[in-house]
Amino acid sequence: MSPRGLAGEFIGRTLRVSGAARRAHGDPRTTTAPRTATVSDVRVFAIANQKGGVGKTTTAVNLAAAVAGAGYDVLIVDIDPQANATVGLGQPRDLEPNVYAVLCGECTAEQAVHATPVDRLWLLPSGRDLVGASVELPTVARSEQRLRDALAPLRERFGFILIDCPPSLGPLTVNALVAADRVIVPVQTEYYALEGLAQVLDTISLIQRELNPRLSVAGMLLTMHDNRTRLGRDVERDVREHFPGLVFDTVIPRNVRLSEAPSFGVPVTLHDPFCAGSDAYVALAREVAAGG
Ligand SMILES: Nc1ncnc2c1ncn2[C@@H]1O[C@H](COP(=O)(O)OP(=O)(O)O)[C@@H](O)[C@H]1O
Ligand SMILES: [Mg+2]
Repeated sequence: MSPRGLAGEFIGRTLRVSGAARRAHGDPRTTTAPRTATVSDVRVFAIANQKGGVGKTTTAVNLAAAVAGAGYDVLIVDIDPQANATVGLGQPRDLEPNVYAVLCGECTAEQAVHATPVDRLWLLPSGRDLVGASVELPTVARSEQRLRDALAPLRERFGFILIDCPPSLGPLTVNALVAADRVIVPVQTEYYALEGLAQVLDTISLIQRELNPRLSVAGMLLTMHDNRTRLGRDVERDVREHFPGLVFDTVIPRNVRLSEAPSFGVPVTLHDPFCAGSDAYVALAREVAAGG
């Protein structure tokens, strides 16, 4: 089956997307997309794609900072053992307690929330011991619900909670998708952009059916886009054609400030508030907030 056929069939039949995302694009299937939460209920966003290097962490940190800049209390949950979001926010890899202790039930999520250099932005950090969690979690009862249960008491305290997932569809990403109301799927604007997307959408659909009926796709986010190249423009067109109504209008450009910011331990909105990367994540924050 062609990638187009696969994606089209998949979306039409089984995948629930945010009603607002479809309406914005005038998609006639809006009525078949049940809305299971009101905007005010939508708090927790997972940033997921099993491909590495597509911009998950960059999106988690900078979208979170943009939302915090708009005056909301925001929590980033770093559930990737590589701890890139933790380090990118200027925190040490061995900050404790961390999300592993939370998943093990050694402390509450509230006890593991740490301040960051950004006003209103808080961090539930990753840690080295999280590597073992992928192996340990499946042996524990109700292991898929651990993060959701842990974050439940924090839903009132934070306007937004963003979960930065590892580059796999293993138990940690499953925990994130079970805890989430919405998922954002970053897609690197490159030749192989569509590869693997059916797999991540399949996993989301499975979680919707089996574990988290509230979950829906907020949107796919084109990242590292270079509008000056023909390839960049072609890939954007292809992704929008394959996934109508499912791709954010906002596109994140390839921007050197975005790649530099983590080495200073701050989001781009602090590193260079007026660069194209900052502008793009502020625009994304608006689009996400409007999406419901
Ligand atoms: N829009 C962008 N412009 C330039 N560099 C980017 C951009 N987005 C991400 N990067 C860089 O690409 C690399 C991978 O991004 P990252 O967010 O860590 O991906 P993931 O979390 O999916 O593995 C990092 O070095 C990051 O700084
Ligand atoms: Mg990452």
